[in-house]
Amino acid sequence: MAFFRSVGFSEQLPAIAGETVMLRAPQMADHAEWSALRAASRDFLTPWEPTWPADDLTRAAFRRRIRRYAEDQRGDLAYPFFIFRKSDGVLVGGLTLANIRRGCAQAASLGYWMGAPYAGQGYMTAAVTTVLPFAFGTLRLHRVEAACIPGNDASIRLLEHTGFQREGFARQYLCINGVWQDHLLFARLRDDPSP
Ligand SMILES: CC(C)(COP(=O)(O)OP(=O)(O)OC[C@H]1O[C@@H](n2cnc3c(N)ncnc32)[C@H](O)[C@@H]1OP(=O)(O)O)[C@@H](O)C(=O)NCCC(=O)NCCS
Repeated sequence: MAFFRSVGFSEQLPAIAGETVMLRAPQMADHAEWSALRAASRDFLTPWEPTWPADDLTRAAFRRRIRRYAEDQRGDLAYPFFIFRKSDGVLVGGLTLANIRRGCAQAASLGYWMGAPYAGQGYMTAAVTTVLPFAFGTLRLHRVEAACIPGNDASIRLLEHTGFQREGFARQYLCINGVWQDHLLFARLRDDPSP
């Protein structure tokens, strides 16, 4: 059903420019910069993420990651992006529109991470603001969901300030840092006003 399937990208996604950031699909050539940033951000990120596999930062694991990203994108299952600072092209973080549900849902789950040296400088606010027109326009989604642990103040503020509304609470919703953790549930709908 063409209307519900929306857009599929068999090739590389076009980059999306925001005010201070540029979003583009991850590429193999990003490995050195990505692994260095993730290594430098390990202590900052691991309390809020699924447990990192032991080989996560290796080139071989990154190759598998890139292959999976490409398959997911081709299958309209997920759209992963790396976030680059527009002024100098430095990789600062990443975000993914994952778990795309078509049919009568037309929904996705938003996930994100910011490299520790770049946190608190407005880059994720810019990145989420940039990806939403792609989600609601190009992908024709109706709903973008996000979830965060109640103590994650940065994530909560980010969602509130990018127009997401808090909708609920899910017990032991995701296994984060090795523990099934309760999450606050947020969503932004296509017709919600921009903040
Ligand atoms: C959540 C995260 C992606 C936000 O990215 P960011 O680039 O730092 O976000 P921004 O700079 O755009 O700031 C977003 C809001 O969070 C606030 N914020 C940033 N760091 C904060 C902190 N440590 N404590 C409280 N608020 C914080 C900012 O002030 C801003 O709110 P404001 O608009 O009221 O000023 C980033 O902090 C991060 O990667 N955290 C660790 C991993 C994580 O939490 N992942 C998400 C799991 S749901």
